Amino acid sequence: MRVLGIETSCDETAASVVENGRLVCSNIIASSRETFERSGGVIPEQAARQQTECMLPVIHQALAQADCHWDDIEAIAVTRGPGLLGSLLVGTVTARAIASVHGLPLIGVHHTLGHLSSTWLHAADSQREEPTFPCLALSASGGHTDLWLRTSHTCGQLLGRTRDDAAGEAFDKGAALLGLPYPGGPSISREARDGDPHAYAFPLPLHDDPSLDFSCSGLKTALRYLLRDLAEQIEDPSIRRNVAASYEYALCRHLCDRVTRAVARHPNVRGMHIVGGVSANARLRTMLTEQCGKIPMLAPASHSYCTDNAAMIAAAGAFLVKELGPIAYGEWKTEASLPLEQFVKTS
Ligand code: KG4
Ligand code: ZN
Repeated sequence: MRVLGIETSCDETAASVVENGRLVCSNIIASSRETFERSGGVIPEQAARQQTECMLPVIHQALAQADCHWDDIEAIAVTRGPGLLGSLLVGTVTARAIASVHGLPLIGVHHTLGHLSSTWLHAADSQREEPTFPCLALSASGGHTDLWLRTSHTCGQLLGRTRDDAAGEAFDKGAALLGLPYPGGPSISREARDGDPHAYAFPLPLHDDPSLDFSCSGLKTALRYLLRDLAEQIEDPSIRRNVAASYEYALCRHLCDRVTRAVARHPNVRGMHIVGGVSANARLRTMLTEQCGKIPMLAPASHSYCTDNAAMIAAAGAFLVKELGPIAYGEWKTEASLPLEQFVKTS
């Protein structure tokens, strides 16, 4: 089954053709990152305006790169939410129009379900064994930090989620405090590369809390106080690198702490998946691999499948059809706020 995926939930305009939910035939992303690097964050109206301009060229490029015509596509999958409403509408309105013109079925996909499907993706020149259930999955991005126990693509249980800032948001806010560009994850990692992660001690959030929830905002506050105490010393490049490395380590340690507790409670899982923009973080991958013991850690095969992309949406669309049948093509609305629990069966 060849699915055309479309994703426009934040500042990116993405289209991709994926075969059988796994093989990425094309993966095109037009990002307005440079515009928002200067503003320090996404300006919703501006993002939607840019997306309107590049949506159709991006779709045509995705078809061309996959060497596909409309006749080769069997369904369209589009992100229906959550996200910025104006941006989501650019994708969903385009998808509805194209589906109607070409007589194709349309699947509305939850953005996070897309991220959760991203560990199934691989490119034509790299094979990847098909992941199996049950598995644990940490989905950490700029908008959410969720920990799932998954028994299929449509069944599972939300074990924990952030009580305040998302992990990616903590990277972004920390970067802003350090005067580093948006998005904060990659810029903190770059700054941290030659720094000492143990130079400054940060607290371990929710250490005595038996839940599997996350809380990242205290680390951001600790960084604010550290910068206040360091005052002009932060201008010293080596101190700056040490602060960035210690902050990155503190966020990764918190994520690992919750994940290893989940692994201990669910020792029969077949894998520990990390997905979403934060899963691109090299330190997090290393720490999780070390700490998950015998349970294999799976991250998306390419960094371009970690951050927002349309391949993951096409994959999730194919899996919804596989598990739900024609119900996957049912009616849906575009929604800025949309809890994933609504779509996941608990058994
Ligand atoms: O999944 P994503 O592209 O968009 C959302 O759904 O939010 O995630 C974006 C987030 C940003 O907050 C960004 O700072 C973070 O992912 N991110 C990273 C890295 N690359 C992106 N965080 C840590 N390390 C990275 N290498
Ligand atoms: Zn995302």
